[in-house]
Amino acid sequence: MSHPDHETHSNTSDNPHFEDILARGLASPSRRMILRGGVGMAGLAMLPGCASLATAPAPVQALGFPSLDKSLLDDVVLPPGYRYSVVHATGDALSAQLPAYSNTGAETDDWSNRIGDHHDGMDIFFIDDRGRYTDRDTGRAVLVVNHESSADGHFMHPAGQTSNGVSGKKFTQFGDWDLGARPELEVLKEINHHGVSVVEIERGPNGWRMKAGSPLNRRVTAQTPARIAGPRAHLKDIQSQMVTRWDTAGTRSRGTLNNCGHGKTPWGTYLACEENWAFYFQMTAGAAAASGRDAVTRRRYGLPVAAPAAGQTRANSQGWHTVSASDDRFARWNLSAVGASADRDFRNEANTFGYNVEIDPLSPTSTPVKRVIMGRMAHEGAVCSLPKAGQPLAFYMGCDARNEYIYKFVSTAVWDPKDIGGGIAAGDKYLNEGKLYAARFDANGQGQWIELDIKDTKVANYAAFKFANQGEIYIHTRLAADAVGATKMDRPEWTAVNPKNGEIYVTLTNNSAANRTPGRADAANPRAYMDVDGKRGAGNPNGHIIRFRENGDQAAATGFRWDIFLFGAEEDAGDANLSGLTARNSFSSPDGLWFSPTTGICWIQTDDGAMTDETHCMMLAALPGEVGDGGKVTVKNKMVVNGAEQTGTQETFIGAALGEARLRRFLIGPKGSEITGVTEADGGRALFVNIQHPGEESKSVTAADSQWPGNKGYGRPGRPRSATIVITRTDGGVIGA
Ligand code: FEO
Ligand code: CA
Ligand code: CA
Ligand code: CA
Repeated sequence: MSHPDHETHSNTSDNPHFEDILARGLASPSRRMILRGGVGMAGLAMLPGCASLATAPAPVQALGFPSLDKSLLDDVVLPPGYRYSVVHATGDALSAQLPAYSNTGAETDDWSNRIGDHHDGMDIFFIDDRGRYTDRDTGRAVLVVNHESSADGHFMHPAGQTSNGVSGKKFTQFGDWDLGARPELEVLKEINHHGVSVVEIERGPNGWRMKAGSPLNRRVTAQTPARIAGPRAHLKDIQSQMVTRWDTAGTRSRGTLNNCGHGKTPWGTYLACEENWAFYFQMTAGAAAASGRDAVTRRRYGLPVAAPAAGQTRANSQGWHTVSASDDRFARWNLSAVGASADRDFRNEANTFGYNVEIDPLSPTSTPVKRVIMGRMAHEGAVCSLPKAGQPLAFYMGCDARNEYIYKFVSTAVWDPKDIGGGIAAGDKYLNEGKLYAARFDANGQGQWIELDIKDTKVANYAAFKFANQGEIYIHTRLAADAVGATKMDRPEWTAVNPKNGEIYVTLTNNSAANRTPGRADAANPRAYMDVDGKRGAGNPNGHIIRFRENGDQAAATGFRWDIFLFGAEEDAGDANLSGLTARNSFSSPDGLWFSPTTGICWIQTDDGAMTDETHCMMLAALPGEVGDGGKVTVKNKMVVNGAEQTGTQETFIGAALGEARLRRFLIGPKGSEITGVTEADGGRALFVNIQHPGEESKSVTAADSQWPGNKGYGRPGRPRSATIVITRTDGGVIGA
């Protein structure tokens, strides 16, 4: 199936592979141009007739496409000369033995060998001719995709989720889920559509496609066993918090949940970050409430402290624990202390979630590892500093909830490029020993990294929670960051590192009126205003992107300089439109964020609810300058709080205005989708992007308000599906240039 502006990829035949075509001398200039060799690699080889690709693409100096107008189409919209095809979508079978996805909820398999739901963070791992990881583009790779899979697992069931024997309920949002009993098959499908997909992809005559049946194809789900890892001196203290009926030593746990942002390590492994895991746990009626320190830590992470009250029908839960109290696959979601001690029940199960989970994508039998020293939070990405031989590595991490913090982990081990390809063993070298910090943004444009250390008197003497040991700091990290006075941010989402200068960018997606009023703004979170047309209330409804540069460009620095790169806004937002956005580049709620290492383009992706009456979520290309290239501004804030107008001013630092020349709207998604996850191949000529939860606001599974991608010829039409797409230019050029 095709369409003038895109090619939907429905070719799952066993067509010849690129290498076969090369070997047979069949490649011709009329085929899509393909670059052999990757970024910064000498000795580029290429297809005959592609002499124009003889040099590696240089960083893009000017954006080479027209900025898109807003769109409300149920399709992926791209500039003229660009097209997309689908690489894989929710439910696609990873093995040739499974039937193709019905898209009606008819599957009776447990989903553990199908592509998961809610495609999110993503990265690509190239494979050399000996089957090992390489950072060179070889034309063969595995694509690793997070499946955030949050609140709406209904499309995979015939009539939506079933609870208490009633199907078709629309489970709206966290905190509003039905507490009735769930059927086993539905729950197994839901458990398994979470996690991560690892899929071999290869470049053929029709572009990149999934290789169904590859031995490298793998699902890591919410049931896959993982190892608990941490610093040697504190590992026993950590494991004692992880003791459950399933592993009474606390050395292992099961599964990963709500993998949102991600990280790629310099040695070639994947970090799947666990975000909204807290909302999966519940307690059973009549169970004793948690108390003391346990109650404090549960509250701080949004976990249930007491059983639902008599007659209560809705609360945080997917109801997974309701299937069976004796089957550990289900009982583990119940945090009640039903046994005589912690090794007889699952009261500690939630302590095993909230981490960065390291996966070796090229080793399908390897055990994923939970890197506890990187802290427990609503993790949103773990992006590495530019690696420098002989120096420590820093990983930058946001905790995505209102008023949460930005963190970094600095490795004790110094970077040795010989560890490239070292897999999980290299992870054990870099990600078990080091220092964990939380960020404080000061009003003078400077910032401090404050180490989370039990020897710090602010931590040791913290009144709200008495840490027993350093191991507890890695598990109850938010409380330690509270203790040291880290800066409460407007929902930290993704982090990205500018390959040109090592500066770190963090999306702050939005915040509510309960947290940002004119009186509660600060320099780093300076806006408090009303959504211009009232769709999303007040606070910081459109979000911003902050950036900072480490002192001395050192990953281990304890101080930095910051400014605000961009403020999201509708173009008619008046004083709130501080970055001078126009109808052609206005955006709201920045979330995904990534720099292309080839072109240097900063790709910004949105997950918005404030502007969706005018345009679906989008992806923009930006050409940033650097921290300090703008100046000081005074933000004029105005909000109505409880019927009374509040005003105030707040000074902050803003980057140089980009204008339409350096900030353009490149992609707009289908109805109800967010755009998230981006990576590239072919020296920037193929861009992979994830379309998450089209049709999210649907009230019915059979009359959904999006039909993408089935409406464009991918798979069986009907219900909407999350998907990975790959974007190319019809002339084979570099994306964005
Ligand atoms: Fe999963 Fe914070 O976005
Ligand atoms: Ca508007
Ligand atoms: Ca996100
Ligand atoms: Ca609005």
